[in-house]
Amino acid sequence: MAPVDPHSYTDGAHPVVSHAALAFYLDFAASTIHASALLTLSAPHSGDLLLDTRALAVHSVSTAAEPPEPIPFSLAATPDPVLGSALTLTLPPDTTSFRLTFSTSPGASALQWLAPPQTASGHPFVFSQCQSIHARSIFPCHDTPAARITFSLLLNVPSQLSAVAAARHVAHRDPLPSDHRGACDDELWCAPGRIVEEFQMEQSVPPYLFAFAAGGIGFRDLGPRTRVYAEGGDKVLDEAAREFAGVEEMVKVGESLFGPYEWERFDLLVLPPSFPYGGMENPRMVFLTPTVIKGDAAGAQVVAHELAHSWTGNLITNKTNEDFWLNEGFTTYAERRIVEVVQGEERAALNMGIGWRGLNRMMERFKDNMEFTKLKPKMAGIDPDDVYSEVPYEKGFQFLWRIERQIGRPAFDEFLKKYIATFKFQSIDTETFLQFLKKNVPGIENQIDLQLWVEGTGIPPDAMEPDSATYKKICALAAEFKSGKLPSEDEVADWSGQEWELYLENLPTDVEASQVTALDERYKLSESRDYEVKVAFLQLAIPTGCKCYFNEVEKCLKQVGRMKYLRPLYSSLAKCSSEEKMLAQRIFSEAQEFYHPIARSVVEAILSKHS
Ligand code: BES
Ligand code: ZN
Repeated sequence: MAPVDPHSYTDGAHPVVSHAALAFYLDFAASTIHASALLTLSAPHSGDLLLDTRALAVHSVSTAAEPPEPIPFSLAATPDPVLGSALTLTLPPDTTSFRLTFSTSPGASALQWLAPPQTASGHPFVFSQCQSIHARSIFPCHDTPAARITFSLLLNVPSQLSAVAAARHVAHRDPLPSDHRGACDDELWCAPGRIVEEFQMEQSVPPYLFAFAAGGIGFRDLGPRTRVYAEGGDKVLDEAAREFAGVEEMVKVGESLFGPYEWERFDLLVLPPSFPYGGMENPRMVFLTPTVIKGDAAGAQVVAHELAHSWTGNLITNKTNEDFWLNEGFTTYAERRIVEVVQGEERAALNMGIGWRGLNRMMERFKDNMEFTKLKPKMAGIDPDDVYSEVPYEKGFQFLWRIERQIGRPAFDEFLKKYIATFKFQSIDTETFLQFLKKNVPGIENQIDLQLWVEGTGIPPDAMEPDSATYKKICALAAEFKSGKLPSEDEVADWSGQEWELYLENLPTDVEASQVTALDERYKLSESRDYEVKVAFLQLAIPTGCKCYFNEVEKCLKQVGRMKYLRPLYSSLAKCSSEEKMLAQRIFSEAQEFYHPIARSVVEAILSKHS
């Protein structure tokens, strides 16, 4: 056995699946997908082959020949809590492709099924979130970013719903008995009132970028290669179209900075509020939380980030989650370059400042577990969702910014373009990046302590706090809070959400309840419709012991399932006295049905850690 990734059963001594032909029958009533997969290997293989699965019921495995011959298989009896269950097949000599039939479980970790009362359209809704290691809960695969696949996908859904996927849309058509390859029986597949949406992904992608959604979804065109999809009718779509009107322009900026946009389309899907992230860079169709639609700079920042992944992440992918910074650090750097062009240097510096605070906060969070302050941490036995943090984003950003400062922007830009052109459609590790860096920037290892940056814990001494007028002014105002000074109406007159976020996150954490309420009385932060502001404020207020915000905390935790908000709020409550702990438990028991399974288990982990 030659492991390639601590988060996958994939055996590096064997060929990998390079193409998947998938047929999914979406059973909304049972929150289940009945599915078939015709998997093709990168080379012929005989004997054992291991695939990743989680909570899948595997019904049959057979050869791709006609008539099919059964292939012996066994599914590990007890799932590993992080990895799931290895599926071992015993392939006949020189097998290049084989078929499986299987069903997902209602608790599939990648999928959230929403019943009609939980949606804005009154139709059921389902969506997937596969990063980091949840694709295996949808179909058996080599669920490691080291293995890239192309795929075809048939989604069989009720005809009143629309289905979308991170792939090229090929057809909207009637189901055919020849489609499903045993996913379910012909009668079910071809029942009246069902339709098939057909997709193809011809560019190879890591399994974590597999994505689809189905529900009462409509759309608005934004530009020649951009469209926004959303659930919830005309009003939501019009708002979304207004918010994202500048997306085509942003794609052009990306191309000028990083080279051609290779994915043809850049569509956006606005999800229900339970979407567990701000954004997810699914290729050709980015998934977004609805909380980004608020008509200020923050929405554009999230879009810039997910767009940037089209080059740094989706074209060049981290080989394993230990190299995650190659995805997120590069993308954070690229995002800020796009923001700088689209929204100006001051806005980019403000984002850097928010990032800098976040990075420093992570040093506190991981003070007893400094491994996770490394750019390349050891991850064996660790669930990536449990240690998700700003470190790969912001320390990665700092590392690249440090290199930029050393060699100058023109040289760094040239380096970046060459890096992307060299490794596109590959999955690489940190060592490969360092080799490429040393080869293309001779002598860099004598100027920057590369080893300290990559292997060291904490923040290296040559990291840098951003230097901009707005950023410094806000930090100075925050420093005055301790002595009782609140910012004046004039000083905050032109603040948007990000300025408030930066201000609040820079306030000392040991403030008095009376100071916090005074701030709120003047600026109504606890009732802000901007969740970044509201959560930053509540996070400050909870540890002061002030109970008057319980109501706002509860509303917030029940309205939005984005983990960026759930984590700090539940953690702050769980660290307080028994009253706050009980509040957290009660809210969670009432809200968990509304959360995505990934968010549900992250909150469970937080609450059990502090119980
Ligand atoms: N790829 C991430 C989201 C992610 C990371 C999902 C790890 C699952 C596991 C995405 O690109 C991201 O970073 N989103 C941020 C956006 C922000 C940095 C602008 C988010 O969701 O907050
Ligand atoms: Zn990202």
